[in-house]
Amino acid sequence: MARRKKIIVGNWKMNPVSLREAVKIFSNIKKTANRLDTEIVICPPFIYLNDLTQGRLKLGAQDVSAENKGSHTGEVSAEMLFKNNVKYVIVGHSERRAKGETDELINKKIEQALSFGLKIILCIGESQRDEGGEYLTFLKDQLKNCLRRINRKYLRNIVVAYEPLFTIGRRDFDAMSPHDIHQIVILIRRSLIDHFNDPVAGKVPILYGGSVSVENAVEIVSGGEVNGLLIGRQSLLPTQFAEIIRKVARI
Ligand code: PGA
Repeated sequence: MARRKKIIVGNWKMNPVSLREAVKIFSNIKKTANRLDTEIVICPPFIYLNDLTQGRLKLGAQDVSAENKGSHTGEVSAEMLFKNNVKYVIVGHSERRAKGETDELINKKIEQALSFGLKIILCIGESQRDEGGEYLTFLKDQLKNCLRRINRKYLRNIVVAYEPLFTIGRRDFDAMSPHDIHQIVILIRRSLIDHFNDPVAGKVPILYGGSVSVENAVEIVSGGEVNGLLIGRQSLLPTQFAEIIRKVARI
């Protein structure tokens, strides 16, 4: 794999409970980020986005509305995010899919996000594996359906995160093996090239997420041949998160 700038995304989910804590974690991560040539994206809850000043860190949202504007109580539009310095948005996270989001809705969110200049981090992942390999078809379909009608001019604003559901929120030895991750990375690259009918689609960064820790980050990135990581719990622990970033930057 040619050496490329790595991408490390911290998904804070519905944490922490106060702005004070959010600023503290963010500032600590920023100290590491300022010294390294890695794209670091922090995705806090919406309510903190405006209070976190980026430096070298990029801000991401954890969700975006599928609608443009108007009467949509509780929703936040892509345009609002873009105008408030947000650069990325996570779409299709399994925790949102579990609340009923379909590939069709995710596709609409992606259209909105890309047309307003945001970069998307599209999460895909199987909930289980079967010996017959049905999960491979499932993953290809997720990718294809979520990216339906998306113009290839947006390719450089697309990042795909592979997150097998059974590895999220577990212990570090429950993360997927680098070998298995690599198989899926190959599948995703091929599917993207087919879908967009463009070899450039093979350059879309692919991340892995699911129980990443200081212990397994390096082997996942080097053995899995991913371009970076999507990290949940450990992104709220600045010391651990900084250590992961530093280790991965050296690969
Ligand atoms: P985890 O979460 O790192 O806590 O397993 C990953 C995710 O849900 O993106």
